[in-house]
Order: sequence, then C-alpha cells, then structure tokens
Amino acid sequence: MHIQNNISLKPYNTFGIDVTAKHFVSVSNINDLKQIISLKEFPEKLVLGGGSNMLLTKDFDGLVIHINFKGIEIISEDDDTVIVKANAGENWHEFVLWCINNDFGGIENLSLIPGNVGTAPIQNIGAYGVELKDSFESCEALSFKTKTFQSFKKSDCNFGYRNSIFKKEAKNKFIITSVNFKLTKNNHKLYINYGAITSQLELMQVTSPTIQDVSKAVISIRESKLPNPKEIGNSGSFFKNPVISKKQFNILTENFKDIPSYPISENEVKVPAGWLIEKAGFKGKQFGNYGVHKNQALVLVNYGNAKGLDILNLSKLIQKTVNRLFDISIETEVNIL
Ligand code: EPU
Repeated sequence: MHIQNNISLKPYNTFGIDVTAKHFVSVSNINDLKQIISLKEFPEKLVLGGGSNMLLTKDFDGLVIHINFKGIEIISEDDDTVIVKANAGENWHEFVLWCINNDFGGIENLSLIPGNVGTAPIQNIGAYGVELKDSFESCEALSFKTKTFQSFKKSDCNFGYRNSIFKKEAKNKFIITSVNFKLTKNNHKLYINYGAITSQLELMQVTSPTIQDVSKAVISIRESKLPNPKEIGNSGSFFKNPVISKKQFNILTENFKDIPSYPISENEVKVPAGWLIEKAGFKGKQFGNYGVHKNQALVLVNYGNAKGLDILNLSKLIQKTVNRLFDISIETEVNIL
C-alpha cells in the first residue's frame, strides 16, 4: 500500500478529465482498506471505482481511494441457479463476459457498460430492459463510521431507476467491497423484446438466441450508438430520463406530435431525455474540445483536454433550454465533483 502525492486522475475517470488528487492510494485488499479509512491525517476522502459515472470539475485536496480488489468466485449453486461473488474492483464488462463464458444468465443485457462491479449497485445500472437489481442478491460494504462490514440484501437497497440507498441515506457512508449475484444456469430468461435487440438478432440471423447471442447483440448496438470512453471521453448517459404527468404529456403532444414516451404508472410517463435534447438542437454540437455526441444526445463528450467545468456549464445550458422549451427538468445521472 503506497500513498502517492499529486496524482493526475485522468486515467481514473472515463470522461478523461485531468484534475489532480493531492493524495492517492490504490487498494487491493480489505485489510489495507480498513487501515486506510482509519487514517486521521486524511479527513477528506473520495472513493473511486471505475470512474465511469462522474464529472470531475476541480482538483481534490484530500485522499482518493482507488478500489482495486479483484476476484470472482462461486459461493453456492443448485441445479438451476448459482450465486457468484465478484469483488468491487472487477471491471463490469469483464465480469459479464466471465458469466457468459460460464453460461450463467441474467446480466447479458448489461454487456459493455463501463465501470466496476462495486459501483454498479450505487446507480442500479440498467440497459435494454434489464437492471442490476434483477440479479442482485446482496453486497458487502465497509462502514466509514464503524469500520465494520455490513451486508445489504436486495430489499435493503431501495433500488429504483438509476437509484439506490447508496445515492440517498447511505451516500458516502459505505464502500461496497463485493457484490453477490443470483444467476441462472439453465432455462435462461431472455429479454429481447427491447426493439433494437430483436432487430439486431435478426441482422445476425439468430433464430433461437442464447445469452451469448444477446450479449453480442447488445455490444453491437452499444458500439453503434455510444462512444467508447477509451477513444472519446464520456460518462454514458449524462442525464436521467424524466418522468412527467400524463396531463403534461398530453399538452406537449399538441405541439410535439412525435414525442416518444414509456408508461410508468396510471398517471405518469417517462420521456427520453435524448429526444428532448435532440429537439433542443444540441445533438452532435461541438464546442471546441467538448460537446454532445452525434449518435446519442444524452451523452456529453470530451474530445480531448476539456475542462470539467466547461462540460458542467454545457449541461446547465442544456437543462435550461430543455426546461424553457418543454417545461421539463432533466436531472443529471452522473455525480458532479
Ligand atoms: N432519442 C432521440 N435522440 C437521441 C437519443 C434518443 O430521439 O439522440 C430517443 C429515441 O426516440 C429513442 C429513445 O430516445 O428511441 C430511446 O433511446 P435509447 O434506446 O438510446 O435509450 P435512452 O432512453 O436514451 C437509456 C439509458 C441508457 C441505456 C439505454 C438502452 C438512461 C438515462 N439511459 O437511454 O443507459 O443504454 O436506455 O437501454 O436511462 C447509461 O445509463 O449510461 C446508459 C447509456
């Protein structure tokens, strides 16, 4: 365990923003983590996983703790299901591929989502009709306050759309160290009705899809729509899709006949923020070295050496414009630091 000083966080956030951490430590085992969180000389701490859901807007004056524990193991199994434990520092997509190679089903629709296993429950990652919560069994987390481990069952986590207890009451109070998933060994339940998946499978000429096929289809769709953070800095969807009342939606359809929506409840619908942002004229707009992605308006991008503050200001301009045009507030999905 080696605490370093004045380290650039550029390699540790998928937006590729170059800010400096006054102190930085990469932690690869639980005992070191327990020691680190007890250090009195660093009162301000920031926990970093895959850095895929944050926009860094300034240098960090405290200690950045980079969670780097690896390891995947089978905890138990019966004829139909298996409980797999993955440590927090495992790369999410590599974990998905490990499951697919072992023919364990449940998270294939979540292929190619950037980030690490330990941060995935915080925002209940989701894509193509599936969310992490659907296969989440439990997680272990270390409490900053008591320095002890606590287990969170699914029912403890209050999972919602891009939301969990770790974004609310438990925010900044715990470090998730491992996650247990309940996956299927056979009779996999496939979610392929999400339009783009069905048509992609058709394109691939697959008639009886396996979890491997679904994963491949999702990878193709994501690669065609979303920029690869290794090539263009980004944090996936920058905003959440807003939920509005049916009444407001009906009023909007008078002026915007093609506005898409997904039913949420009897009185509410979800509207794709990407559509609102595109209609507001921002899709593909480039402002020097940052902008809005050309294939998915929900994704803000860093073309190289952009400042976090510039991207933050662009996001505020988008929010203001969408609000003015549609009277809808769109909330950020990424954490701003
Ligand atoms: N749309 C546009 N213009 C755009 C983008 C989207 O008009 O530039 C409209 C289209 O009508 C399209 C609809 O929005 O049919 C939905 O678009 P898409 O299928 O790309 O999904 P999304 O709602 O924009 C959400 C997630 C993504 C996830 C996809 C697929 C959120 C905030 N985002 O996006 O998640 O991959 O569904 O399931 O819920 C992420 O969280 O980082 C992320 C990429």
